[in-house]
Amino acid sequence: MGTIAVLGAGKIGEALLSGLISGGRSPEDLLFTERHPERAAELEARYGITGVTVREAAQRADLLVVAVKPQDIDPVLADLAPVLRPQSLVVSLCAGLPTSLFERKLPSGTPVVRVMPNTPMLVGEAMSAVSAGKYAGPEHVKAVTELLSCVGKVVEVPESQQDAVTALSGSGPAYFFYLVEAMIDAGILLGLPRAVAERLIVQSAVGAAKMLDEGESHPVLLREAVTSPGGTTINAIRELEKHGVRAALIAAIEAARDRSAELGRAHED
Ligand SMILES: NC(=O)c1ccc[n+]([C@@H]2O[C@H](COP(=O)([O-])OP(=O)(O)OC[C@H]3O[C@@H](n4cnc5c(N)ncnc54)[C@H](OP(=O)(O)O)[C@@H]3O)[C@@H](O)[C@H]2O)c1
Repeated sequence: MGTIAVLGAGKIGEALLSGLISGGRSPEDLLFTERHPERAAELEARYGITGVTVREAAQRADLLVVAVKPQDIDPVLADLAPVLRPQSLVVSLCAGLPTSLFERKLPSGTPVVRVMPNTPMLVGEAMSAVSAGKYAGPEHVKAVTELLSCVGKVVEVPESQQDAVTALSGSGPAYFFYLVEAMIDAGILLGLPRAVAERLIVQSAVGAAKMLDEGESHPVLLREAVTSPGGTTINAIRELEKHGVRAALIAAIEAARDRSAELGRAHED
């Protein structure tokens, strides 16, 4: 994969750099760009990697990961366009920005791969979905999949499905945090101390996630296994159904998909 440069080493950019180093990549093969000298110095000290200008990153890197906020993309592409080497691979982590935007602003034929990661990248458990742009081939998707595997799991989807991915796994951690928060409130209502309620629910979430991740049973079977006839769980399930929680989740995720599509339309040709 050669030298990798991360353009914009904020939360996600730093998580990727940190994961690459933990995954065994030498700091000498990594570069980053940052706007603030203090932030650059902090990252250099923490990881032993070198902060450079966008021009230098373009000249030295084989793969450039763009990790600035979507609203900051224009100056980055303007800096990159005149100096990008022909075979460099550009990887965008920017939510909602189509590969066509990069292809339009960068030299003709630049391979671009779009990625929708999520915040568990900060703990090495990201779910990332990758989509090839017009000039990116299977070798580019393979390189990006390898890159992201050091910070979590990776799937490939057609770019037309990126709005659905954004709604499902991009925003997904927020739905789980929301559910956990509501369950902690329930514990408080039942008279448990907050710290105890938190521990009970967070560990239940970790345990349930592990069982799901082991993938030996479907979620329905796992749920049925703790739903005994006439027991406590079925009483809770009846209330969840009565309050339309399943329908609410489906509608919420559909609304997130629609908003993602709306934001993306602002960047169309
Ligand atoms: N966080 C998430 O949950 C998440 C999930 C999926 C996708 N993403 C995507 O990941 C990208 C990064 O998100 P984030 O949460 O990591 O944002 P962030 O913490 O704000 O990081 C962006 C970094 O880029 C720097 N930057 C901006 N313009 C620059 C430029 N011209 N040259 C060099 N550095 C520049 C920013 O510096 P300043 O501090 O000066 O602004 C900041 O340090 C976004 O496009 C977002 O859509 C994020």
